[in-house]
Amino acid sequence: MSAVVFLLLFLAIADVSVSVPIDNEYNIDESVGDSKTPPRPKADFETAVLYDDIAKPKTLSRNADPCTAKGCKWPKSGSYVYVPYFISESYSQKERNIIIRGLQSFNVSTCIRFVPWKCGDRDFIYIENKDGCWSYVGRQDGGQYISLNKGGCLHQSVVQHEVIHALGFNHEQVRSDRDTYVRILFENILPDKKFAFEKIETNNLGTPYDFNSVMEYRNDAFSKNGKLTIVAKCNPNLKFGTAKEMSANDILRIKRLYEC
Ligand SMILES: *[C@@H]1O[C@H](CO)[C@@H](O)[C@H](O)[C@H]1NC(C)=O
Ligand SMILES: [Zn+2]
Repeated sequence: MSAVVFLLLFLAIADVSVSVPIDNEYNIDESVGDSKTPPRPKADFETAVLYDDIAKPKTLSRNADPCTAKGCKWPKSGSYVYVPYFISESYSQKERNIIIRGLQSFNVSTCIRFVPWKCGDRDFIYIENKDGCWSYVGRQDGGQYISLNKGGCLHQSVVQHEVIHALGFNHEQVRSDRDTYVRILFENILPDKKFAFEKIETNNLGTPYDFNSVMEYRNDAFSKNGKLTIVAKCNPNLKFGTAKEMSANDILRIKRLYEC
């Protein structure tokens, strides 16, 4: 197993295969759940494929319409969007606290409320110590994993990044308007990572392209030759993609999508 599938975008580790089908172990329905433990997510896990740090059912194309237009937003009830979560028992208390702090950062800055999973909650986030840091984009039917490997994902920025995927957002540099702001140097990108730079018809919710977004890749992400893969048009020397936490625009976008 690759022990280095961590922090794919943050460290831009060059030679890690992430186009791996999810392991067979997930084919086993380990639990039907009880009042304390949710069932393990079924959402397409047998056919899911990891595209960079985004897990997608095989049946969807990579550049699918923004999933928020297909109903992957989490439902709102009253003024809040309650998103049930469960944190795997494989984390230590210290590790859990890092994850909880990450979830709390949404609680305090948006109308998202991460609430502990309880019996009867059908859609939920199951945070598990799997291989690498990854998430689905948007809500999936019947529960979904966020993988936060203990070995490299337990940082505020990574927790927030993967949670923002689960709330329905893509990476900053694939935004529909990115060509106005950045040049993608495809000639420097690892051939099997080029897909991660394909533009998506995102709904940008009137928020500006943000180099300080926690969803922005580093300048040299997935470089095959050490040269830059993303360059800011306004300033080719600008270093970006190293946010330690959500930016004001990351928060604004969530608020606009969920009409907070
Ligand atoms: C977020 O807020 C809800 C409702 O106020 C609360 O029940 C929940 O425990 C909070 N989540 C976290 C991770 O603190
Ligand atoms: Zn990501």
